[in-house]
Amino acid sequence: MAEGRGRLSPAVLGERPGGRSPGVPYSPLYADLYHSEAGAWAQAEEVFIVGSGLPGRWRGRSRFVILETGFGLGNNFLATWAAWRNDPERCDRLVFISIEKHPLTRDDLARVHDTVASAGEGPAEPARALAARLIQAWPPLTPGLHTLDFEEPALPGNAASAGVSLLLGLGDVKDVLPQLVAAVDAFYLDGFSPDRNPDMWDAHWLSRLGRWAAPDATAATWSVARPLRDALAQAGFEVTRAPGFGSKRDRITASYRPRFTPPALAGGLWPEPERARRSAVVIGAGLAGCAAAWALSREGWRVTVLDQHTGPAQEASGNPGGLFHGIVHGEDGIHARAHRAAALHTAALVGPWMGDGRLTGHCQGLLRLDAQLTDDQALTLIERLGLPPDYLQWCPQERARRISGLPVSSGGWLFTRGGWLDPAHYTRCLLQEAQ
Ligand SMILES: C[S@@+](CC[C@H](N)C(=O)[O-])C[C@H]1O[C@@H](n2cnc3c(N)ncnc32)[C@H](O)[C@@H]1O
Repeated sequence: MAEGRGRLSPAVLGERPGGRSPGVPYSPLYADLYHSEAGAWAQAEEVFIVGSGLPGRWRGRSRFVILETGFGLGNNFLATWAAWRNDPERCDRLVFISIEKHPLTRDDLARVHDTVASAGEGPAEPARALAARLIQAWPPLTPGLHTLDFEEPALPGNAASAGVSLLLGLGDVKDVLPQLVAAVDAFYLDGFSPDRNPDMWDAHWLSRLGRWAAPDATAATWSVARPLRDALAQAGFEVTRAPGFGSKRDRITASYRPRFTPPALAGGLWPEPERARRSAVVIGAGLAGCAAAWALSREGWRVTVLDQHTGPAQEASGNPGGLFHGIVHGEDGIHARAHRAAALHTAALVGPWMGDGRLTGHCQGLLRLDAQLTDDQALTLIERLGLPPDYLQWCPQERARRISGLPVSSGGWLFTRGGWLDPAHYTRCLLQEAQ
């Protein structure tokens, strides 16, 4: 999946004017509440989870994919994750894709969930524990795709590869959605109210939702606006009304019943083979082969890796050290964005392995010297790209010297989550995880 473009501005949270709706997070930008006054978790449960036929529909599946428009405070995600954990017949992997233009900062996310849990919203302890895991994994707010994996191998009845993958697409829905390649089982449509947030209910992309719909997909939302119903119908959904939640009289549930099947997306997904047929052979135990084996095994595949050597990473991947970091480019094009997403995902993956001593390396920052740029040019570039300091900083020469302890000859970029690792250890970790 490619990423969305554009500079991000984080959400601003406030109180509804006039002291109405105390304690319910409010967006001054959209002049609307983040969720029903009757409760975020209750709304998530009734409108989105039950409204999507869950938990029943993920039973017997190895993977179930949800696409949400508007991650907001993450309540729908957390409630869905909790419902998945509580269901002994859960699918192996829940993939939750969510698109958000104004993500919360980590501090705001922590503040909101502390408030929610202490106000007794939702099953407080599980809610708090899951929110803590989300906050811990919360990425730097760079535009584009972020993959946050929450592995759950210890849940009763689960396959070793079980877990929840949250794919956060940070950017405007109109930019991020067209770049997604996914077969979505359930759409959660959760913008602010259509009159205040028309972009989130734009018929132009809603009427194309069929392009991302898996067979038997559903769409759920609290809104019953006529243009929304028309756009969903145009996309091939059969739209029905159900009793509304909180102050709403009705809500919508919709099932994908297209009169014709739209053309498959370029680079689209293979249909998922049945469990017994999911076996693969990977030839070559270098970095790419081991990473492919690891990724397949997380999707429940049995993988055999073949190599002429007795261990992994013995040839081109056999350097004593490998670096992982993003790149900075004035256009912030696909190359730069793909590197960024990959480097951040790598840091999240290898951090715990380095922490428990399984992997030799370091992921607390990588300094990349750049003699081409003056300090002013670099700072202007960072400002223009809107990249946050917990992802990237410019270090003038003196600071670069101090950080590295070396007599460096120029300033450079500090990728705060970049680092290095031992490729042979890393490939062994990947293969161990894949077993
Ligand atoms: C009602 S809130 C979502 C609540 C969320 N689902 C939850 O569970 O907490 C709507 C969200 O849509 C986001 N949003 C508004 N316009 C957007 C756009 N054009 N593209 C992507 N996200 C947008 C807002 O920033 C806000 O976080």
